[in-house]
Amino acid sequence: MPSPTPLARLPVIFVGSFPDPCARLTPALPEIALVGRSNVGKSSLLNALLGRRVARVSRTPGRTGHLNVYRLPTLYLLDLPGYGWARASQSERARLARLVRGVLTRRPTLSGVLWLLDVRHDPSRDDLALAELLGERGLPVLAALTKADKLTQSERRRRTAALAARLALPPDQIQLTSSTTGLGISDLAESLLAFAEALARR
Ligand code: GTP
Ligand code: MG
Repeated sequence: MPSPTPLARLPVIFVGSFPDPCARLTPALPEIALVGRSNVGKSSLLNALLGRRVARVSRTPGRTGHLNVYRLPTLYLLDLPGYGWARASQSERARLARLVRGVLTRRPTLSGVLWLLDVRHDPSRDDLALAELLGERGLPVLAALTKADKLTQSERRRRTAALAARLALPPDQIQLTSSTTGLGISDLAESLLAFAEALARR
């Protein structure tokens, strides 16, 4: 069993599931959204970070359909639908894309982003489009590389270095993780708390 993370000791409240990307939250606290391709492991990572099963995980991509909000004492975590799920109907895909894009471009209170990328794959076209949106808005980013348990140690090192270069992110903004084994989860939880603290001071 993975060891408890700094977030696992904190109370968490499920605030709600919102179709509106600009749904207002009170009290005002830093808001960090989990974004990434469908099936990359956003809901699983959220559960691993919080050390309890709050978010619904599924083998079927496209399971998270709304803006799901979790409140911790010093921050909100926003679980979002994934992008780029080819098998969803066109209208559903458009709705999910609008919601994610709405959160990233129009949500006035969004403070930062936890961006998930599968460590095994190079960034997709959708990932690169997202990077552009984040850059345009100047949103602070932490990147989590997911599903590290699927690779050997040497492959992990090689892929982490390749993705860091490809995404042009400094090492302290990238964390290798596995929600299955708990690898990197405590470190990421610590980085998230520090991230929220820095965002609160901005
Ligand atoms: P959407 O909400 O559809 O965008 O998906 P998501 O990004 O929230 O992914 P989710 O957490 O639902 O996980 C998708 C699948 O990947 C599930 O079958 C998970 O069990 C699996 N998965 C998630 N994280 C890991 C991991 O660290 N290692 C492995 N091996 N599988 C994982
Ligand atoms: Mg999900």
